[in-house]
Amino acid sequence: MSRMLIMGPPGAGKGTQAANIVKYYGVPHISTGDMFRAAIKNETELGKLAKSYMDKGELVPDSVTIGIVKERLLQPDCKKGFLLDGFPRNLNQAESFDEMLESLGIAVDFVINIEVDPQILIDRVVGRRVCPVCGATFHVEYNKPKVEGICDECGAELIQRKDDTVETATNRLKVYADQTAPLLKYYQEQVFNVDGSKSLEEVFASIKEHLGER
Ligand code: AP5
Ligand code: MG
Repeated sequence: MSRMLIMGPPGAGKGTQAANIVKYYGVPHISTGDMFRAAIKNETELGKLAKSYMDKGELVPDSVTIGIVKERLLQPDCKKGFLLDGFPRNLNQAESFDEMLESLGIAVDFVINIEVDPQILIDRVVGRRVCPVCGATFHVEYNKPKVEGICDECGAELIQRKDDTVETATNRLKVYADQTAPLLKYYQEQVFNVDGSKSLEEVFASIKEHLGER
């Protein structure tokens, strides 16, 4: 049983590695960014609110974000563990998360921190292409789909995320440095660092080495 967080700046490879980790360890992948993007797609009230922040690269208000995570963690599939991607993202979220865990009588086992030189992050974010149907992630140079513009997994046409512009990504990096990076100290007991500048396969191999066999 594993309850894990995956952290790192925008473009570090959280979503990419999360897909490998959940497949290998059989736990649900809970990405607050993906949850907000789904709400935007479904044109819900939550989606409208989230969009106004995401388009600028700012954090969605804590009250909303904490609420959706709380609800998700109560789903039965989380009983076998989970991998949270993109949450918590500031101290207030981390403290509320601790309260949630305490009320459920559980704790975080591992915090995976993917480290990447900020200079290559913008390149990764701007070249990212995602599948609007199944969520698979590619890169025009570093992780090409077999057929340009088409998802390997489901054949849908790949799109670019609206917040993957140089301008918005630059602000997301700043928000990360100001609000999220300080959490690494908060989780110093559980955190392990992985060199995210290596190849996709090498990064997953180091994560597996730390987490151990399933
Ligand atoms: P979110 O969706 O979480 O975005 P992010 O944190 O900015 O991270 P990314 O998804 O951009 O990067 P990633 O690390 O997943 O990288 P990926 O694997 O795709 O959040 C978006 C927004 O939602 C936030 O700005 C905020 O507004 C809101 N939000 C979300 N959570 C919130 C919260 N808790 N509180 C408040 N607001 C919240 O990889 C990137 C690219 O690099 C891909 O193209 C990939 O193919 C490529 N790549 C990956 N690994 C490698 C490698 N090893 N070598 C070469 N290329 C690689
Ligand atoms: Mg992601």
